[in-house]
Amino acid sequence: MNRIHFLRACWEDMIVIESNGLFAMVDTGTDLSTDQILAYLDSIGVKRLEFILITHFHRDHYGSLPALLERYPVGKVYMKTFSGLNIADSAGRPADQAYNEAELKKCEEMCETARRVSELVIIDETVDQVSVGDFHFQIYGLTDAIREMYDDPASPYHGKICFGENVNSTAMFADVNGTTVYLGGDAHNSELEYPKYTNQNDQYAKLAGRQIDLFKVPHHCCGNIFNEETLKILKPRYAVVTNFAKSVNGQFSGNRDLLLQANPEVTILCTDLCGYMFTLGPDGELSYEEIDPWPEDREKPAWML
Ligand SMILES: [Fe+2]
Repeated sequence: MNRIHFLRACWEDMIVIESNGLFAMVDTGTDLSTDQILAYLDSIGVKRLEFILITHFHRDHYGSLPALLERYPVGKVYMKTFSGLNIADSAGRPADQAYNEAELKKCEEMCETARRVSELVIIDETVDQVSVGDFHFQIYGLTDAIREMYDDPASPYHGKICFGENVNSTAMFADVNGTTVYLGGDAHNSELEYPKYTNQNDQYAKLAGRQIDLFKVPHHCCGNIFNEETLKILKPRYAVVTNFAKSVNGQFSGNRDLLLQANPEVTILCTDLCGYMFTLGPDGELSYEEIDPWPEDREKPAWML
């Protein structure tokens, strides 16, 4: 049985990979979601995680990592470390030097814990293929893109702190029985004046070079998620946006329209009111069901209504 579980979340990523009784996680939500994650993992019988991948060092992706490392044996931790030069925090507020220093310290502490209780793999350039059950993953990293653009005297960004940590997002392709899944953290396209890192999502996606069955859309939905040329190749069949539907149909509708243009049959799901569990069948068939609904006893915030 091969499944991918996108837990209910808004502006957070917490994705569980399941293959024949083995489990792994891609991003761990904020620390405010720890109880929700642990309860969900208990409900599906998780006793161990083969790996946890942190796509980039923002709180909405690394937040529950310490609790998960405390609760479960974890085979490996793949970590995209913090650049130390973040212009904005994970909520988009300006990040000052104190914020960056505190985040650097937190990143070092988490790496230290991961080294102690698991095996830490720092994501830099491409990480070799990793398998969990029937899933075969390719993890693509960058060198510290922000640091490189900041330090290179030939860079138009030399000496300027002008990027958010999303630019450092790694991307992962998962292949299982002929189905391709693209999990890209908060990687998104931007027309940087530094060719090596421009249009990051396109660069990652072109590595797949074929239709993507399931695409985790970066929840910020900023810029174009892919350009039209890339979308002609990828034509996602399902797109999961870890953001609220109201926003995807409103201020971020440009990206919704891009997905529909690439594949008028695309199913777009938003994780604000419930999560989704995809089952990936032996012959490439894909189906999903709703999971992890918004708790009845918990009031919905106004922006959801
Ligand atoms: Fe994020």
